[in-house]
Amino acid sequence: MKRYIVANWKMNPATQAAARRIFDSIKRTMPRIKKRTRVVICPSHVHLSYITRRYRGRTISFGAQDCSEFPEGSHTGENSINQLRDLDTEYVILGHSERRELGEDNARIRAKVQHALALGMRTILCVGESVRDQEGEYLSFIAREIESALHATPERRVSRLVIAYEPVWAIGRGAEDAMTPHELHQMTLFIRKTLTKLFGKKRAQRIPVLYGGSVEENNVLMLMRDGNVDGFLVGHASLEPKQFSSIIKVVDTV
Ligand code: PGA
Repeated sequence: MKRYIVANWKMNPATQAAARRIFDSIKRTMPRIKKRTRVVICPSHVHLSYITRRYRGRTISFGAQDCSEFPEGSHTGENSINQLRDLDTEYVILGHSERRELGEDNARIRAKVQHALALGMRTILCVGESVRDQEGEYLSFIAREIESALHATPERRVSRLVIAYEPVWAIGRGAEDAMTPHELHQMTLFIRKTLTKLFGKKRAQRIPVLYGGSVEENNVLMLMRDGNVDGFLVGHASLEPKQFSSIIKVVDTV
């Protein structure tokens, strides 16, 4: 199975010059990695072309943080899959909790996911509960997010799907607030079970499941070793090249 480290730069940094500095520094400090490991950097749309056009290597791939559910036309402010592809973007993050907070509901996320997969884009679908209740309601919540986004997806298309489990309560904090590896292990088992119901065991087992939410160099080792994940979606720590490189190293070698 491949391993993934996906950098979600969100709406950072403020200038192109700063984006270049961070990217160049990531390139400089990045360890040599094995073939199975994928490093994907997802800058904001305005920085994408600048970063991808300057890169000649093959080790790093690029992703967008969102895309339109429409192929083209009158959709002010949106970016199409084809426009992103033209900038050498191979991946797209969809359904991130920060987009859901802005009003994207399951129906819209489904439209985007279906459209992206139909066009062969590697699609990172984010799911995650905001709170954890004693009764385990959060499990059905996660199942609903997955089932809704992937409803009626033709099985052959899931080879380009990646799931990122990101509990909202663990995003944007410090390593000490992230999940424990044990909780994460339970959750990834549940996610794989949900995927198996949709696509059968063989296909479901091949869908990478990542974790996101305060992944830092201090907790990545235990999460990777005991969390039953195929990698991470990294927010704030991905803007710090040295820290990001340590995270890559752990994911690649553990
Ligand atoms: P964080 O963000 O690593 O800063 O918690 C993760 C994410 O929101 O993708």
